[in-house]
Amino acid sequence: NIEENFQFILFGGTGDLAHNKIIPAFYNLAAKDILPNQYTIIATGRRYDNKKEYLDALYNSLVNKKGKVDNRIWQLLADHIDYFQLSFKDDNDFKRLKNNLENKAKKEKVSDRIFYLATAPNFFAEIAKKLKSFGLLDVALENNKARLVIEKPFGHDFKSAKKLNDTLTNIFSEKNIFRIDHYLGKEMIQNIMVIRLSNPIFRALWNKDHIDNIQIYLNESEGVKDRGKYYDDAGVIKDMFQNHILQVLSLIAMEEPENLTAKEISDKKVEVFKELADNDLSNIDRHIVRGQYDSEQVDGEKINSYQEEKGIDPQSKTATFLALKLFLNNERWQGVPIYLKSGKRLNKKEAAIAVEFKDDFHSAYLDQKNIDNNLLLIKIQPEEGVSLRFNTRKPASNNKIIPVEMEFCQSCQQFFNSPENYEGLIYDMIAGDKTLFTSWEEVCYSWKFIDKIQAKCEEENITLHKYPALSQGPDAADKLLETDGRSWLDKD
Ligand code: BG6
Repeated sequence: NIEENFQFILFGGTGDLAHNKIIPAFYNLAAKDILPNQYTIIATGRRYDNKKEYLDALYNSLVNKKGKVDNRIWQLLADHIDYFQLSFKDDNDFKRLKNNLENKAKKEKVSDRIFYLATAPNFFAEIAKKLKSFGLLDVALENNKARLVIEKPFGHDFKSAKKLNDTLTNIFSEKNIFRIDHYLGKEMIQNIMVIRLSNPIFRALWNKDHIDNIQIYLNESEGVKDRGKYYDDAGVIKDMFQNHILQVLSLIAMEEPENLTAKEISDKKVEVFKELADNDLSNIDRHIVRGQYDSEQVDGEKINSYQEEKGIDPQSKTATFLALKLFLNNERWQGVPIYLKSGKRLNKKEAAIAVEFKDDFHSAYLDQKNIDNNLLLIKIQPEEGVSLRFNTRKPASNNKIIPVEMEFCQSCQQFFNSPENYEGLIYDMIAGDKTLFTSWEEVCYSWKFIDKIQAKCEEENITLHKYPALSQGPDAADKLLETDGRSWLDKD
């Protein structure tokens, strides 16, 4: 349980994230009775005129999301929520906010202040500066307990990320900056370390001698929805690769940490990001497939092409799909291809990590080697679980080998309710545990790698393949693996 009383100041309190992720996560924490007796969520925004209107709107969003809300739990939570009308541009509002926080702090003996920036990214630096210049950090800083939580995107390239980071670290110490990557809040992503480090059967084989290839795919069926303006600048490479996919890769590929402290894990992840950033990308034209979704008729209904979506330039060349083959030049992974893939408007939402083993058979069975390889599949979503493919003797046969699959479905367990991604993250930011947040160094080297890919793609004028909405993506992505004698493991 969280013991320390805290103030949680939510900038962007009336936005989507607050309604659909942050407040529902608090609701779940309240239901589990792990919040202290005294805490306040001070949501700032402009949209609503008063607290009642705001709480009504939050309640409606919660009902929409959950279907059913326990009114007793909601009331427990609502008693701790305050609404504060504030414009980021108005200095006076920050002065009023400071007084408000201080008056509350006197009554409630608050020791921690958490400032959560769930706003458009162009406000991140400005808000942080005002927190300092208007004295909102003064009280809390006595114990060095003021924390800043910052949503993605953290910059739009290395240069802008560094500039933002310099501003933030002038105000907060790295220890108190929590950069969110909500994939790290997912159950099966947190499971990677346990699967890797606590199972001798995987731990002993986790290297180039036994692993043939690794695939990570984060496929989405939705389009860009109403985020066209942001997405057209970002594209899949900044939206999904720079953060989520590289984070997952770093956990799969890193060297074993000596312990599970946030610093040690981050250091090991950074080694992977550095190696990626050192990649010379000289074969990029043969190792990358860029795509953009086109319109399609599905069940008599037209699905818009990317270029027809709201907020998108009708001539846009932004990639909504990317497949990438890469190598890590270190002792553990030398020569093992790593295939990464993510796209919008694919035929289904499905995210998983596939670790395919080599066909290292005893000589007695060499003649049967052309069957499917042993495979460890870590299923991230929608189903959460693990499946393992291995070989057995075909019943009543003459020692004929057949691959079989063993399934563990975590999300199918009776009474199992997968926690919201944000639930654990919010718990950790209140408790001050940074393990599931990204350090500056991780962000820094991941941007360097992404910037390099972007520059290479432009330099070499890499083709943008159109793919029909709700399809499996461009055929070129299949060819990427076919030329290596392999295929994507997400194919039915
Ligand atoms: C976000 C991206 O970070 O992750 C979105 O900005 C994407 O474009 C989303 O849809 C995917 O998250 P999840 O949890 O639905 O896989």
